[in-house]
Amino acid sequence: MKRIAVLTSGGDSPGMNATIRAVVRGALYHEMEIFGIERGYSGLIEGEIREMNARSVGDIIQRGGTILKTARSAEFLTEKGFNMALNMLASFKIEGLVVIGGNGSLLGALKLAEAGVKVMGLPGTIDNDLAFTDYTIGFDTAVNTALTAIGNIRDTSQSHDRTTIVEVMGRNCGDIAILSALGGGAEIVLIPERPEDVDDICRRLVESKNRGKKSSIIIKAEGVEVPSQELADLIAARTGLEAKVVILGYIQRGGSPTARDRQLAAMLGYEAARLLKKDVYNRAVGVRGDSVVDYDLAEALAMKSDPLLDLDGLADILSQ
Ligand code: F6P
Repeated sequence: MKRIAVLTSGGDSPGMNATIRAVVRGALYHEMEIFGIERGYSGLIEGEIREMNARSVGDIIQRGGTILKTARSAEFLTEKGFNMALNMLASFKIEGLVVIGGNGSLLGALKLAEAGVKVMGLPGTIDNDLAFTDYTIGFDTAVNTALTAIGNIRDTSQSHDRTTIVEVMGRNCGDIAILSALGGGAEIVLIPERPEDVDDICRRLVESKNRGKKSSIIIKAEGVEVPSQELADLIAARTGLEAKVVILGYIQRGGSPTARDRQLAAMLGYEAARLLKKDVYNRAVGVRGDSVVDYDLAEALAMKSDPLLDLDGLADILSQ
């Protein structure tokens, strides 16, 4: 392959820039021309495509967000939009496309693959909800951002003897919640994969209080069905404990990537370029332990992931 392109799509994640850098410099190392597509599939449809060189990705390794911008494209899901995307790739003579994004974005890449485009999928999302990789790019940074916030919340929660529900992102995946609870010393973690009864949560809070704890932190994943404020009201009504809600939201999506996310970005981004150069395509590249792995894209996206429940159990034991 001699001419490839890269785009970022869906929700941004810290480390996307470091991934773009690794793809671009990996491609140049392997003597391929490399193009950047702006605003994900939306920019592809509009032809927002520019050639990149080594300098185009200078001074971005440490930056959150994505220099290529990102979008969730409704048009790409229509037949017309999809065909426009295919035509644009053909008119720019793009032989291989690297898509950095989460589940929806990689499903878009799969659709392109089924239409004959040679693609490579890289896991760029804070959610850690892609089963073909142990960790997604951006997850570690999001957890660390949550931990900083939880530390601050813990201070004020203790001063006021309050229970605080901290809602974290993750869509339908509880991994951000579990690692935030483990690292933040939370009393309770609520994840969508394991629904819990409100009475049970109240019982645990009262037991905790009876053991001498005057304040508690509950980490709640956004995918848990009961809204956070409703849960706080129920806790207050049933236990008499004062309960506050903090929704961390988009702060988890920004910020400078951690060492771990930069390392992941470097390894996976480079591998995507290396494989395309060898004319290996329609793969999803991830990490298992310390090793870079790649799977058939369709098979990778059909894999089911398990939440980090062992660590959830540990968080529970250690919060006694
Ligand atoms: O997929 C990343 C994520 O931040 C999820 O955790 C969250 O549910 C969603 O994106 C928010 O999406 P949007 O950026 O469209 O509000």
